[in-house]
Amino acid sequence: MSNNKGFILWFTGLSGAGKSTLAEYLTPILRERGVNVEVLDGDVVRTNLSKGLGFSKEDRDTNIRRIGFVANLLARNGACAITAAISPYQEIRDECRNMADADFIEVFVEAPLEVVEERDTKGLYKKARSGEIKNFTGVSDPYEAPKNPEVVVHTGSEDIETSANKILDYLVSRGLVSSTPAGAGA
Ligand code: ADX
Repeated sequence: MSNNKGFILWFTGLSGAGKSTLAEYLTPILRERGVNVEVLDGDVVRTNLSKGLGFSKEDRDTNIRRIGFVANLLARNGACAITAAISPYQEIRDECRNMADADFIEVFVEAPLEVVEERDTKGLYKKARSGEIKNFTGVSDPYEAPKNPEVVVHTGSEDIETSANKILDYLVSRGLVSSTPAGAGA
């Protein structure tokens, strides 16, 4: 099987749902299968490529379009680009899908608001509730769940291995990733 067909693994979900964690978990597994992987993480992108952008709809759309643009450059050159940004709007996700020259796999990293708010890994939900942070996704700003995602993982109720395997199984079923590690004779 060729490992040279690039693709975009587009994660979307609330802050704290586990997008970055899942991207980091999957990266070495994909590399073992001969895939070149780059992660475009929302928090990281916002410190360089999107530095200075805020969280208005306009700025989020700009951020997501930039991520989609770079993901496409990577994917059309044979890499797997994993994007891990909230990407709250269906229309902009679809725009990124439509402009992609490679397979675009939308992964809904689903976790109930109660769960991510209870975890509150960055302490931001508390600040959003108190009004210290305005326009916080899921609290005071919209999040549009994907209408037709290729994969859905439930990080509130399944462990990371289960979520990662769902994604891997899907990629294997699409012929985008080898079913065994590189060099294992598959
Ligand atoms: S997106 O909406 O443009 O896709 P992105 O994923 O880049 O968002 O950034 C989200 C991260 O920024 C969150 O995980 C959180 O750490 C931080 N953040 C700060 N302010 C907000 C806000 N108002 N809404 C959502 N996330 C915020």
